[in-house]
Amino acid sequence: MLPLSSYCSPKMHRPLVGLKWAQTIDGQMADDQNRSKWISGNEELIYTHQTRSQYDGVCVGASTFLADLSKLTVRNIPIANDFTQPIRVIFDPRNRVDYEDKKLSNVLNESVRPSIIMQTRSSSYSKSSQLFVLNIKESLEKDLGMVRLHQCFENIFHRQLRALMIEGGAKTIALFLEKNLVDMAHISIAPMITGGKKNRIYLNKLLSDAYQFNFIRQFNKGADTVVELVRQQKEEYSER
Ligand SMILES: NC(=O)c1ccc[n+]([C@@H]2O[C@H](COP(=O)([O-])OP(=O)(O)OC[C@H]3O[C@@H](n4cnc5c(N)ncnc54)[C@H](OP(=O)(O)O)[C@@H]3O)[C@@H](O)[C@H]2O)c1
Repeated sequence: MLPLSSYCSPKMHRPLVGLKWAQTIDGQMADDQNRSKWISGNEELIYTHQTRSQYDGVCVGASTFLADLSKLTVRNIPIANDFTQPIRVIFDPRNRVDYEDKKLSNVLNESVRPSIIMQTRSSSYSKSSQLFVLNIKESLEKDLGMVRLHQCFENIFHRQLRALMIEGGAKTIALFLEKNLVDMAHISIAPMITGGKKNRIYLNKLLSDAYQFNFIRQFNKGADTVVELVRQQKEEYSER
């Protein structure tokens, strides 16, 4: 993969955003009982950690964090002593992550890098745990209850978050696409079919207004196929 910086533009005024997920051939990111371990194999897991290492922050939705207690660290690959782990970002507009709950605070405090939780309650910062709660209440659009993510990102951007990877789940990925905040995608496809109605990206777009991507490269990791893509710029699809 090319260095991510080659896809960054100062005109964006926000971090570069890359999506990363693993799915079955038929597009399920977990089965209908919300089990996603493990869609992909060990070799693909190493690729996930290599990809994380290129980003400054790794973000998951609250449901994923609560289901998986995701560490979101780079591990399983060799890392230099001075390597800086990505910031953990949890998108939690309904304040479901109770960071004072002992089990969760243990997970949040177990690493030395900061965590940001995007919630709709007052902002706070705990120096000892490096936990930053970012109040996104004012950026909620009243009619839809959606987060105005551009504004939110601007806050984070001043914290030197130049590239943010969104690792799922499907609801969070759909929201970032809808907000037109996606620049790249790393998608792993496992050779299996589960069927199912949940845990797939629900957008209800027509082919004529689908989110379009340009192909960067494709390769195999064990039995899984990885596809890397870059989002087409608006001018590109208006030319067609
Ligand atoms: N295969 C993979 O690569 C992969 C990666 C990550 C996760 N997963 C799996 O995916 C499942 C969880 O995914 P998920 O899609 O249910 O949830 P999610 O994306 O992890 O979390 C969604 C969070 O964002 C909130 N949210 C989403 N859209 C919103 C909107 N428009 N307005 C306000 N709030 C919004 C949700 O609120 P509510 O809680 O109120 O809905 C929830 O707190 C888990 O089973 C996990 O294991 C798979």
